[in-house]
Amino acid sequence: MTEVPPYGVVVVTGATGGLGHVIVDGLIDDGHIVIAQFHTDAIGAQALRVAAEQKGGTCIPVQAELSTSAGAEAFVDAVAALLRKNESWRLRGLINNAALVLGPGFGSTTADLFDRYVAVNVRAPFLLTQALSSLMEDGSSIVNISSAGVTFSSPGDIIYVMTKAALEALTRHAAEPLARRGIRINAVVAGFTDNGHPGYKFAKVRDHLGAFAALGGIAEPEVISDAVRFLLSPASRRSTGSLLDVSGGSTLGVPRPGGSVRDLAQNHPSA
Ligand SMILES: NC(=O)c1ccc[n+]([C@@H]2O[C@H](COP(=O)([O-])OP(=O)(O)OC[C@H]3O[C@@H](n4cnc5c(N)ncnc54)[C@H](OP(=O)(O)O)[C@@H]3O)[C@@H](O)[C@H]2O)c1
Repeated sequence: MTEVPPYGVVVVTGATGGLGHVIVDGLIDDGHIVIAQFHTDAIGAQALRVAAEQKGGTCIPVQAELSTSAGAEAFVDAVAALLRKNESWRLRGLINNAALVLGPGFGSTTADLFDRYVAVNVRAPFLLTQALSSLMEDGSSIVNISSAGVTFSSPGDIIYVMTKAALEALTRHAAEPLARRGIRINAVVAGFTDNGHPGYKFAKVRDHLGAFAALGGIAEPEVISDAVRFLLSPASRRSTGSLLDVSGGSTLGVPRPGGSVRDLAQNHPSA
């Protein structure tokens, strides 16, 4: 029988994604058993299982389609079945990390795309939070992965950032009912973070994206993983309904290349 680690079982969605697999790795290091939801990447899911085993940990991949409510419900059923099968396991956490990322823009959005983004990025986290919290131990922790893009003008990613704003609203407004059982819910606000996308290899892209952060540069995925680990741990025991901003100050509205309004005004031909 698997021994129950200090923090028990944590469900991670989008576990094979660029940030998801690093989040899983960190949670395994902390002694959690991870139920890792994956969508299309069965090979990546198997790799998560093997990597956990090599560290003496446990990661159970579960395939799920989160763009439909039936898919989200089937995933909840699969988690519940795993908890029934392993009586000593205790559900202590949920990381809503899966998302359709970036795009579509203001002009190119269709009703179908709109519905799909909302389904994966908002409805699924809501349904999972609602259903899985009822299976959780009192005192558990839920973490939603949001984006600094919510705070600056992003017309090219308008639907994506609208869904992240809704996820932040879920974080705030679910905190009170969950607090009755001591369950905390918080969001991590990520800035541009290297998720292995080929674009991050190009210096020009890194320079452009790095200019959004007051601290400069692109985050490595461990920045998000460390924030998740903190929000799952007792060190954050008085935090709920909050946003943990690890965007390097991308939410501060620092002047982009081209200068401040004053610089622009001084350099304007009419000045
Ligand atoms: N990387 C950044 O710069 C950044 C910045 C701010 C916030 N974030 C947030 O960080 C989180 C992780 O993003 P990432 O950078 O790791 O992106 P990613 O590599 O594209 O990961 C997204 C994950 O979501 C899964 N997913 C997408 N559609 C799904 C569906 N219909 N059903 C189930 N799963 C689905 C994907 O699985 P498939 O690939 O198999 O479809 C993938 O595993 C997201 O919430 C994102 O919004 C990222």
